[in-house]
Amino acid sequence: MEKQDVLLNVQNLRTWFNTPEGVVKSVNGVSFHVDRGETLALVGESGCGKTVTTLSLMKLLGKNSVVTADELTLNGRDIRALSKEEARKIRGKEISMIFQEPMTSLNPVYRIQRQLGEMLRIHNPGISRTEVHRRSVDILRKVGVPNPDERLKVFPHQLSGGLRQRVMIAIALASNPAMVIADEPTTALDVTIQAQVIDLLKELQRDFNTSILLITHDFGVVSQLANRVAVMYAGKIVEEGPLKDVIERPLHPYTELLILSIPGIKVKKGGRLRTIEGQVPNPLYFPEGCRFHPRCPSACDRCHREEPPQITIGGQTVSCWLRAEEGQYDT
Ligand SMILES: Nc1ncnc2c1ncn2[C@@H]1O[C@H](COP(=O)(O)OP(=O)(O)OP(=O)(O)O)[C@@H](O)[C@H]1O
Ligand code: SF4
Ligand SMILES: [Mg+2]
Repeated sequence: MEKQDVLLNVQNLRTWFNTPEGVVKSVNGVSFHVDRGETLALVGESGCGKTVTTLSLMKLLGKNSVVTADELTLNGRDIRALSKEEARKIRGKEISMIFQEPMTSLNPVYRIQRQLGEMLRIHNPGISRTEVHRRSVDILRKVGVPNPDERLKVFPHQLSGGLRQRVMIAIALASNPAMVIADEPTTALDVTIQAQVIDLLKELQRDFNTSILLITHDFGVVSQLANRVAVMYAGKIVEEGPLKDVIERPLHPYTELLILSIPGIKVKKGGRLRTIEGQVPNPLYFPEGCRFHPRCPSACDRCHREEPPQITIGGQTVSCWLRAEEGQYDT
């Protein structure tokens, strides 16, 4: 892949929080990149650091956070030292965010018209009222909202969950962003609407060549949308690679268990699903050695003591001692 195809590049991101209990090390040396027009899925169970990773990129964390990175570039531009104001501009224009619960990002006291219109005005100063209306209708239609003229006049609570999600996507797209960060975009929705939102994101990508950073705990959603997958556990990426390779041959035991814990990918519907025993560790008390060892069915002595290095095998990277003989160590 040519260098200019990389839209977002993140190298060795660390995000720590100062809390009364101690330093919470939520993200510990995370590296990934997202190319133009591709979907990278960041997948892992609740509490492994997915949301903190994205909020760190977007400068959306509170004062008790410390974010460092060796590299953080968007479109070739270093975004580490941006002011809050500059970061806000990027969020409006180059990167849009779609959250799990639309009610938290839609303003309940304003009609849809105003919220969508505001976004369009920010990005097209001096635009006429008629033009704002025309574009609003157009964009709502694009994301599959029926009767857009009528829907513009209502408040968020007057819409169904699925329509709210679509409106939020419409607002996210009004700025024509190069990248959309979608944090659990389908989790709160029922299965039919989930499928519609997934189709919608696919269409957007096809029509606008938008890059998507998809955050989810659900490998089912990953398998429908992603080109590449980064599996996160306890603040680190433990495996990364093209979707097809990762699903065909997961190299990390955690990835394998995530895939076997949901129906439809490798376990046929009605088949026996695996559960992952235990819980994601609290970042205040990460285990020694491999952080997955207390839950890993294949853990050996070394796993308890020494942290595995990152190993490259074909197009995949993995951090697991089981693979130490197979590939090349990255130093
Ligand atoms: N502001 C904060 N202060 C202290 N700890 C935090 C803060 N925000 C997040 N954490 C901790 O960081 C860890 C990672 O949280 P994060 O929200 O990124 O998880 P996640 O992977 O997005 O999970 P979920 O799937 O539930 O959304 C958790 O242990 C969480 O408690
Ligand atoms: S390094 Fe050991 S404990 Fe960690 S995932 Fe691999 S086998 Fe399991
Ligand atoms: Mg989250």
